[in-house]
Amino acid sequence: MYWRWRSNCFNIGNNQLIIKSNINPKSLNYQNNFDRMSELVSDLKKKKRIINIGGSLESRKRHISRGKVLPRERIAHLLDDKDNALEIGELAGYDLNNNETPSGSIVCVIGKVSGRDSMIIANDATVKGGTYFPITLKKHLRSLEIAKENNLACINLVDSGGANLREQTGIFADKEGFGRIFFEMANMSSVGIPQISAVLGSCTAGGAYIPAMSDETVIVKKNGTIFLGGPHLVKAATGEITNEQDLGGAELHTKLSGVADYFANDDYDALNIIKSIMKNLNYKKKYDLNLKDAVDPKYDPHEIYGILPTELKEQYDVKEIIARLVDNSELDEFKSNYGTTLVTGFAYLMGIPIGIVANNGILFSESSLKATHFIQLCEQRGIPILFLQNIAGFMIGRSYEEKGIAKDGAKLVNAVSTVTVPKLTLIIGGSFGAGNYAMCGRAYSPRFLFSWPNSKISVMGGEIAANVLSSVKEAQYEKLGKKWKAEKRLNFQKEIIDQFDYEGSPYYASARLWDDGILDPLETRKKIALGLLNSLNSKRKNGKFGIFRM
Ligand code: COA
Repeated sequence: MYWRWRSNCFNIGNNQLIIKSNINPKSLNYQNNFDRMSELVSDLKKKKRIINIGGSLESRKRHISRGKVLPRERIAHLLDDKDNALEIGELAGYDLNNNETPSGSIVCVIGKVSGRDSMIIANDATVKGGTYFPITLKKHLRSLEIAKENNLACINLVDSGGANLREQTGIFADKEGFGRIFFEMANMSSVGIPQISAVLGSCTAGGAYIPAMSDETVIVKKNGTIFLGGPHLVKAATGEITNEQDLGGAELHTKLSGVADYFANDDYDALNIIKSIMKNLNYKKKYDLNLKDAVDPKYDPHEIYGILPTELKEQYDVKEIIARLVDNSELDEFKSNYGTTLVTGFAYLMGIPIGIVANNGILFSESSLKATHFIQLCEQRGIPILFLQNIAGFMIGRSYEEKGIAKDGAKLVNAVSTVTVPKLTLIIGGSFGAGNYAMCGRAYSPRFLFSWPNSKISVMGGEIAANVLSSVKEAQYEKLGKKWKAEKRLNFQKEIIDQFDYEGSPYYASARLWDDGILDPLETRKKIALGLLNSLNSKRKNGKFGIFRM
């Protein structure tokens, strides 16, 4: 890890860059916010604790009785430093599939293994035999995408029955189907991104291609099996009677077929072999950035709890948040007097230089132009960008259209889409409408996207959606010469508001992998820094912005 700590280094002198905070921790408003955020964070931690248990007690007991290690423990054994790891999609599958797919039944963690930044992808065999539900596949593919974009070595800890046959239409034939895993593996291997596998349990049918397509593969005695068709299928198809080990065990694959390269006695032996393989990669990470020593923020990050309002509609100064995320609370603000509903500026986060683009109100033409200009600066200097999203959308109305807000917004969307420096997005409040696009929402491929437990994400706010739809309905009634009863109208609106409330929850989003995780504001600095450090493995391509419509 690069970081060197210089804690409590607050000898600020006459430093103009330090953000001046105006919050009053004694105010009732602050205390209400603090209490409510504390509740949200404790709920988040509780949910994560439950999810981290994995499958049912019975299936975990059976797993362990077979001499196998649970997926999170396997990962912990591999990591050089488990305190500096970044889990992806921890809440995937939340409230989906009758809550039977904790973490999408696959655990994906980024961390160093024998010094190499890696993406570890571990099946959870305690959940329906580790078989792939649509969410499992989506998470596996997202992890591969992260690995590809950030040049992370891939380590597969395979223990899976392959396709969940009851879910086959959701995982098989489409472009983003199971086959895409092997496509991505082949393409990553072709550009030198290592693909390493340990077969720690079942590895059936299409799944057999994971170890078979890997650069190097380990298989465990007795528990590990690799075959295109298991004994039941072989019997049904050809009449041949065989057993799992004879058909595709460690002895067969390391002595006869050559599908696997290393024979391991048990899980820990296999994981240690992986560590040795990783030592032989001859990789040296090079930093193209001017890194500094990390310095704590001048203001306590815990105060973020008291700053975030209980209602998204309430305005607050986003610089109060920035002051609690960046080193020494220093922000070198760019165009501070222009387009003030967006804050742009340079800072360091745990010693890493970043450009910040943060909402401080609705987006206008000026704020869009300012952000576009700032993104060009970051691109030219090779500085990663952190987007802090709390956005209701773009300003609407005749005079704004007349001034061409659509083309100014488009310039920002163009810059966000084509900039080649690493982009990271953190949703710290609302993420609505075209504001989500302009502020580097999921569709704009930020390297990582995280949210806070108070966030909301939807095409527009529930109340506005209810008003839009009820006004459409009202017009239909009018055309028929009928009157819509007030009570019915209210019920209609309530239904829509409830729907948007439920669907706008960060858990709804995280369950479907619209983000990479929900973070406690207190852990955010470190997690963003980990994302940034991992992004520095990949070389920047020479990019070009599209046409900025003037
Ligand atoms: N599709 C759907 N469900 C599956 C499944 C599959 N491919 N494989 C296993 N399951 C389910 C089982 O029905 C069982 O469900 P339950 O808990 O509701 O009863 C659960 O997963 C655990 O299976 P079980 O066989 O009891 O666990 P195990 O640890 O002893 O064995 C496997 C796990 C994966 C090795 C074994 O179930 C198996 O060989 N499955 C078939 C794999 C296969 O042929 N896949 C085809 C891929 S194209």
